[in-house]
Amino acid sequence: MPTSPPTLRAALQDYTPPPYLIDSVHLNFLLGDTVTRVESCMQVLPNHAASERPPLFLHGCEDVKLVAVKVNGESLPVEQYEVESSGLTLKTPPAGAFELEVHTDLHPDQNTSLEGLYTSGGNFCTQCEAEGFRGITFFMDRPDVMAKYTTRIEADKAACPVLLSNGNLVGSGEAEGGRHFTVWEDPFRKPCYLFALVAGDLCMKEDTFTTCSGRSVALRIFTRAHDIGRVDFAMQSLKRSMKWDEEVFGLEYDLDLFNIVAVDDFNMGAMENKSLNIFNSRLVLATPDTATDGDFGRIEGVVGHEYFHNWTGNRVTCRDWFQLTLKEGLTVYRDQEFSADMNSRPVRRVEDVCRLRAAQFQEDNGPMAHPIRPESYIKMDNFYTLTVYEKGAEVIRLYEAVLGKAGFRKGMDLYFQRHDGQAVTCDDFLAAMADANGEDLSALAKWYSQAGTPRLSVAAEYSPADKTYTLRFKQASCGARRLLLPPTPGQPTKDPVLIPVRMGLLAPDGGEVPLKLRGGEMLGSEAVLRVTKAEQEFVFEGVEQAPVPSLLRGFSAPVHMTVEGQSDEDLLHLLAHDTDSFNRWEAGHVLAKKLMRALYAAAKDSNEVGGRGLGGTGMVCVYARVDGAFKAFAISLPENSELMDKIPEADPILLHEVREFLTRQLAARLRPELEAAVAENDSAPGEQYEFTAAACARRALKNKALGYLAALGDPGVTEQLLHRFRGATNMTDEINALAALDRAGGGSALPAALTGFYQKWEQEPLVLLKWLALQAGSNVAGNVAAVRRLMAHPAFHITNPNSCYSLFLGFARSPVNFHAADGSGYEFMGDVVLQLDKINHQVASRMVSAFTTFKNYDQQRQALMRAQLQRIMDTEGLSDNVFEIVSKSLK
Ligand code: ARG
Ligand code: ZN
Repeated sequence: MPTSPPTLRAALQDYTPPPYLIDSVHLNFLLGDTVTRVESCMQVLPNHAASERPPLFLHGCEDVKLVAVKVNGESLPVEQYEVESSGLTLKTPPAGAFELEVHTDLHPDQNTSLEGLYTSGGNFCTQCEAEGFRGITFFMDRPDVMAKYTTRIEADKAACPVLLSNGNLVGSGEAEGGRHFTVWEDPFRKPCYLFALVAGDLCMKEDTFTTCSGRSVALRIFTRAHDIGRVDFAMQSLKRSMKWDEEVFGLEYDLDLFNIVAVDDFNMGAMENKSLNIFNSRLVLATPDTATDGDFGRIEGVVGHEYFHNWTGNRVTCRDWFQLTLKEGLTVYRDQEFSADMNSRPVRRVEDVCRLRAAQFQEDNGPMAHPIRPESYIKMDNFYTLTVYEKGAEVIRLYEAVLGKAGFRKGMDLYFQRHDGQAVTCDDFLAAMADANGEDLSALAKWYSQAGTPRLSVAAEYSPADKTYTLRFKQASCGARRLLLPPTPGQPTKDPVLIPVRMGLLAPDGGEVPLKLRGGEMLGSEAVLRVTKAEQEFVFEGVEQAPVPSLLRGFSAPVHMTVEGQSDEDLLHLLAHDTDSFNRWEAGHVLAKKLMRALYAAAKDSNEVGGRGLGGTGMVCVYARVDGAFKAFAISLPENSELMDKIPEADPILLHEVREFLTRQLAARLRPELEAAVAENDSAPGEQYEFTAAACARRALKNKALGYLAALGDPGVTEQLLHRFRGATNMTDEINALAALDRAGGGSALPAALTGFYQKWEQEPLVLLKWLALQAGSNVAGNVAAVRRLMAHPAFHITNPNSCYSLFLGFARSPVNFHAADGSGYEFMGDVVLQLDKINHQVASRMVSAFTTFKNYDQQRQALMRAQLQRIMDTEGLSDNVFEIVSKSLK
């Protein structure tokens, strides 16, 4: 039976400017226990030819009940307007400017979608991006309608002592019946997606920041009383981001107040509402005993990200949602640079690239593949993707690679000079970068419109006779029949793109070869080659001996690169001598990938994992040659999703067994080194937790080593892990010890440790998320039953997105149980999608992502996964969100 067809499909090519503008809006929120009344008074301006009188359409949604419509103070006769669930149409608005008043009623306490106005833990809050404002009142809910907002909030004083909105507080007072109010005025024009309101019983911690021009800004973080002691790190991160943006981009904060509010129920990470950022509490609250190094790093990055949006997103915003990467790609780039400056730059780069290759490349290779500027969508919420965000950030990095840091900054300056206060497009950004540098950057434009990951292959040739070294690049994979880029949905053919290849050449003695291109000048020891054609060669002169090339340094472009004929010796040479730390790590990573693929292929042939006794010799070398912060990475095995790119119809369980085998081999062969790593990097008794690059690197290596040792299944190791678990003085060590115990099979110790952990942290929902995820992701066969049971546990709340992400996405990460041959894991996730779709469409559609890669697996699994997608598709009353992803997957 066909299911609910998508209501509307938006397309980039259909963009037209709005026929009306909203100059200013006065909002009055009368917050109530069950019903909230919203009175909106808009000053509307015509934005069309004087001879025309187009209808005015205001977006709405079925949960918003229209109570009154007035034009210039007079109630509008019913025949002059039309209300549907999608919106309100004024058939013949007055000519010229006019005032439009709309009153609506809402039920925030029943809103489980967590879009628009909703309650979380009894407090009111909003989420309007992308299209949530229409869930509050009828409005022109599109980012190119930028208005000035004045917001009055009235609520019960006892229940909601704190009442916040965007901008400056300009009034407050008492109201009847034990109620009170505040009035906020935002002096900056903004699209409605940046509107925010918070009301409730919240505690606050305050600090100040003095800007470069000497203005003092009050910084406030609001949480529930219980959590207020955990905001110091977020506050420090905020101050550091404010300073960094001044120093690196010359960007100063523009109001006297900056608020952050932490809420437990939040679909995404955080939201950059003007001067009132709202955060998922897991990205604000942290103390060493409750948060891991990873949590601290994410908090710093996301606090920075949302703050940086004040300029890249708020002061200059998007014309339409197809341009989302204009603000997100750029702001992710900015937060990555910020984190790199605050911590170890090479470590951050490796982490970002791993994430991109493990997850975004997979998205590029699947049914949802889309350009960083998508061309159409059914639900915009489905396009807050790794492609738009992470690949978008890599595309920004391409400008930097091509223009250099100084040229990039010039482009940014011109971008703000031209577009402050406007809603613009990715083309405007490209034009500012090009004009500021007098460069033709049109070759970068294709990165915005082509989906998929380009494949770049390189062949090298050394001529001892004339001492030249030639690099031949092909934007194609092997075989002449193959396209430049594999096709993606809707894009059967692809054109070459500009690929900046940062590179150097290493002499046989490990020294750097001075670079001189034929007919060109000396370039020093590093150059950025601009590969723009399907086939292109670069000839270096004066190369005394055959070098080893170090290509795509720092991962200078988001491509799959193959270096033809690259030997293990070449890789070990790079590992030992490359001056680019990313490429040194990459050399080891490539060796590990080769090894795992070879093991997998052998296991597939012989039906026996490791049967031929292939060991981890290369990896053992890697471990010996890598130092410092990289040692933990050097022994991290590549993600399955990265390996599957070259394994057609992969058997995920066999791949998992290969990983387990290799882990045990490495643990056995490196045991003395791993034990030494644990001893050398252990914290001294009484040592204070510090979130510094050096301390994090030590904990990372120690815990990685413990994880390996756990794989040995040695009772002595289990005993040690138990001891470490009980004595841990920070969450990083505590949760890692627990995970290692699980890895070690745990024996009888594991259930008791899990129970102990639960009892210790019963009052801390954020810590319990880790407890849920750890159990959900267990590879003990048959764990699906335990996960179903956890759904009834008091630690789990199906209406809380974090709970769902921990339990369900945690489960989907277990190869053994999600991919169980009997289909039980798939069936469970199918159940989950259908159950969640009745509660929260955005969360449900994120769960479908577990199925979208089904074509990468063997035939039996493909059939089982497809059957679940079909079952979802055949369900009556599906949300547009889930429909979009499921229908595209089944195509
Ligand atoms: N702009 C926010 C950020 O990246 C994300 C908002 C996502 N909201 C959504 N409904 N998809 O910081
Ligand atoms: Zn963002």
